[in-house]
This record gives sequence, structure tokens and C-alpha cells, in this order.
Amino acid sequence: MVRIAPTSQTQQKVPPAEHDVERLEEIRELHRLAELGGGHERITAQHEKGKLTARERLEMLLDPGTFVEMDKFVQHRASLFGMADKKILGDGVVTGYGKINGRLVYVYAQDFTVLGGSLGEMCAEKITKVQDLALQNGAPLVGLNDSGGARIQEGVAALAGYGDIFYRNVQASGVIPQLSAIMGPCAGGAVYSPAITDFIFMTRGTGHMFVTGPEVVETVTGESCTFDELGGADMHASVSGVCHFTADSEEETLYKIKRLLSYLPANNAEDPPYVATTDDPTRIDEVLDTIVPADTKRPYDMRDVVDRIVDRGTFYEVHEDYATNLIVGLARLDGHVIGIVGNQPKVLAGVLDSDASEKGARFIRFCDAFNIPIVSFVDVPGFMPGLKEERGGIIRNGAKLLYAYCEATVPKLTVVTRKAYGGAYIVMCSKHLRSDYNLAWPGTEIAVLGPEAAVKIVYRKEIQQADDPEAMRIELEEEFRRRFATPMAAAERGFLDDIIEPRETRPRLVSALQTLIGKRQARPSRKHGNIPL
Ligand code: HXC
Repeated sequence: MVRIAPTSQTQQKVPPAEHDVERLEEIRELHRLAELGGGHERITAQHEKGKLTARERLEMLLDPGTFVEMDKFVQHRASLFGMADKKILGDGVVTGYGKINGRLVYVYAQDFTVLGGSLGEMCAEKITKVQDLALQNGAPLVGLNDSGGARIQEGVAALAGYGDIFYRNVQASGVIPQLSAIMGPCAGGAVYSPAITDFIFMTRGTGHMFVTGPEVVETVTGESCTFDELGGADMHASVSGVCHFTADSEEETLYKIKRLLSYLPANNAEDPPYVATTDDPTRIDEVLDTIVPADTKRPYDMRDVVDRIVDRGTFYEVHEDYATNLIVGLARLDGHVIGIVGNQPKVLAGVLDSDASEKGARFIRFCDAFNIPIVSFVDVPGFMPGLKEERGGIIRNGAKLLYAYCEATVPKLTVVTRKAYGGAYIVMCSKHLRSDYNLAWPGTEIAVLGPEAAVKIVYRKEIQQADDPEAMRIELEEEFRRRFATPMAAAERGFLDDIIEPRETRPRLVSALQTLIGKRQARPSRKHGNIPL
């Protein structure tokens, strides 16, 4: 048994017995050894690759002096392929708990200096232990990935370890926030643990994720590609959508994790952290009155709208480079955390396509799981038409967004800033999907189709047979515009709760949110719904 070193003044006066001193020295040496991981040479190699070690990363991530390591002396039990001589204390992953901004988090950081951070049976047991504790104790789990994948020498035991991790990721989904950073390789089936977690952060240049590496790709498909092209941060942030946040350095990656956690509750039974704001909740912003161009075809940046309405400087965009025709992110409104979903007129006129629908749906489901009210800003010409989108499953994918909004029971607030056409009007958190509070700005147009398309379909024959088809077309389009290029038709039916001046949007949303803080809405009892995946 290891005796703890005496701490009180009186105890310190009693010298420990000689054999105790030896044991203490022994255990100190074991701690020192474990903390060295794969040793000085490999630590230097890690630094030369521009990477920090697992322990250095945890030190940077957690509040100073709060990290408590667990399972430091775990070792693998493999013996084949020379493994009996490759036992290293800790077995390739550093696990434990600590604090970020004073709040408890569980962490694991793969240690590339030990057998390339590869995952074997015992290494997996260390990770599953912190997964279990995080879930049991209702605290977020942050995983820092830097690994060569399944430890080849351990065969099926390594695969089993991954299975155990995946299973726990799924059990914890929607109960505690799970965050993954990719700060080195993350290859093969190993990618599926981060993929199940809520948010993925990648370090540009050193973080790579792929199911099969460049060599296998070349052998199987004949394609030649670099690590970055196949699985770098920028590719996953802008093309595949796997990555939510990119960073140029490890320090920035860890900073972004800390910033995101400041918006999240520790678990699904808690509300997100309230932070009192100095931004006046009754603040009027006159710039909003002119932010939307009079010409409905001219773009503007929905981010400017969001920035002017939420508490100053609090909008934290998620998935910034992916499906940029829709913006999603977290912000604060009068100190309360909210989720923002907004069409982006600056990109593809804010049309909804498959990627934007999936991006929105996943974010909405995250907000709903963690008690984060959703505020939607709507300016949408419709769903994207075309062969590519239909073949790509815009029906299935668009339905995900619709499903997510319908399913969400958190407070839902909607502001239509300009256009809301067709199915996209309904999908973007309309009253019909049980939105709690719907506002529109004066220039709002809500209709099945735009005037040009509507007149073409409804009056095709009449226009063809008219003495002056062009004049008739113009007149009918004008009539459509008069009827529908106004929020009144929707307001008359109560589909909009009010038509407001853009400048007063912040106070109106703040006031509505205050009324909704106590919202409780039950769903019908069922095992789970069947979202069209
Ligand atoms: C055992 C591994 C290992 C692994 C790396 N190492 N990956 N040991 N199992 N999977 C060891 C290396 O042998 C080496 O040991 C040390 O880690 C450092 O690796 P290097 O290759 O020298 O580093 P580097 O050049 O930076 O290359 C890193 C790498 C490369 C790109 C990750 O090591 C690599 O391609 N590894 C294999 C990746 C892979 O195919 N993994 C299996 C994926 S399938 P020494 O002692 O020589 O320094 C998978 C299935 C999961 O993971 C299924 C889940 C369901």
C-alpha cells in the first residue's frame, strides 16, 4: 500500500520509516516515468511535428492546477509481436478530470509518443471509464485525438475497445455535451467516435481524419491525393461538413473548445449558463431599418443582422465554412444562451439545399437536447431546384430540417426579415411547426411562389391568348406582388404575432424570450421518432 505523504506540521516532525521513504521514492519515480509517456526522444519528435504532447495539451485546456489524472499506471496485456517489451505506463492515453472556466469536465488525450497513440484494450478501458464517469456525473467530455488508430498488434481486442467507446458515445448523446478535437491522425474506424460527438474541432496542418489513408485510396481507386486533400481541416470544414471549427494552432483549437463550453450546460437536465450582460435589453438599432436592400434580389449579410440584435460580441458561429447559405451558431440574448439559425441571402440567395438542411437540422437537435432556445432569421426563396439536388436527396434532407424544428420543444422564436416562399416558409420555424413567437419586418413577402413563377403557372393560357401578353403579365405580377409582398396576409391569420420595425427587434425578442423561459412542452410517449436520415 502506498502511504500518502504527511501534510500537517505536527505530522511532518515524525520522520517516515526507512522502508516508507523507499516506497515513496519508488512511486514518485513511477509518476515521473508515466508522465514521460514514450520518452524524451518521442516527445522531441512530437514537438518537431509542431504538435504538443497529450499532457501539454491538457495543461493548456484546463484551468491551472485542476487536472486530476486517473489510471496513470495502466499497462497493456498484449504479448504478441514484441509487445511484451513495449509496456509503457498509461498505455497511450492520458485521462482524468479538471475544470474549464471553473466547471467540471472529463477529458482524455491520446498520447502519440506511446505506440503512435494507437488504441488497444487497456487504452480503451481508460477512455470508457471517463466516458462512464462523465455520463454518470453529468459533465461534458472532451477528447483530444492524436492516434494511429486500432493497435494492430492487439487485433480484435483493439476493435472491441473502439466498439465500447462508440456505444458509450451514443448513450451519452443528448445527455452530456461531447466535444472532439483532432490534433493529429484520426484514421480508420476511429473516426466514428468523434463523428458521433456533438462538435469536432480540427487543427489545420496536423489534424487529419479519414476512413482510409492516401496509400489505400491510391491502391483501391487509383486516386492520388495528399493528407490535407483527403482529410485535412479545411476539407472537412467546407466540403464534407464533418468538422465544425478549424484553428491554425493547437492553442487556438483548445481556446475554441473553451469558448464553446462557455455556452453549454453541463448536461441535459441543466440550463445553459446565464451571464449578465452590459448590453441594454431595450437597445434600439436604427441601422436595422436599412440593412435589408429595397431591391428584393439584392443580397445582404444575415450575420450583420444577428450581430446587431444579440448581446454585443456574443455570436459564435458554428460550421462557419460549410453550407454557407445557412448560418448557425450560439449567442446570448439579455444574458441567456440562444441558438441562431438564419438563411444567408449573401450565398445562393439563402436557398435551402441538402447540405444547409442537414447542417440546420443537426444544430437544432443539439440546441433542443441541451435546453437552448432557438431564434430563426428567415429570408429564403425556397428549396434549391435542379437535378443535382433532387438526385442528392433534397426531399430526404429537407425533411430533416422540418423534422428537427417540429421535434424541438425548446422556446422557438422567428423573425422573417424579407422573403419566405413555399415549403421553405413552413420549414423555417413557421407558426405551423409550433414556433412560439413569430415576427416579421415590414418588407416581408410570404407566398407559395414568387410573382413571376406564380403568374406563369396560374395564368399561362390567359397570357398566351391576351392581345398584349407582356402587358397582362406585368399587370398580373404587380397584382400578386400587392397581395403577397406584404406580411399582412400571414398576420391576418395570426401566423405572424406581429409586424415590427426592424430597429425594435432586440427588445421584442428579449421580451418574448423572458415569457418563454418557463416553457414546458411534452412529446407523445414513444421509443424514439424516425427522422428521415
Ligand atoms: C500500432 C502504431 C499504429 C497502429 C502507428 N503506430 N500506428 N502501432 N498500431 N495502428 C506506431 C508506429 O509503428 C510507430 O512506432 C509509432 O506509432 C509512430 O508512427 P509513425 O508511423 O512513425 O508516425 P508518422 O510517420 O507520424 O505516421 C503516423 C501515421 C502512421 C500516419 C498514423 O503511423 C500510420 O499510417 N499508422 C497506421 C494507421 C492505420 O492504418 N491504422 C489502422 C486504421 S484501421 P515506432 O515504434 O516504429 O516508433 C483502424 C480500425 C479501427 O483504426 C476500427 C474501429 C471500429
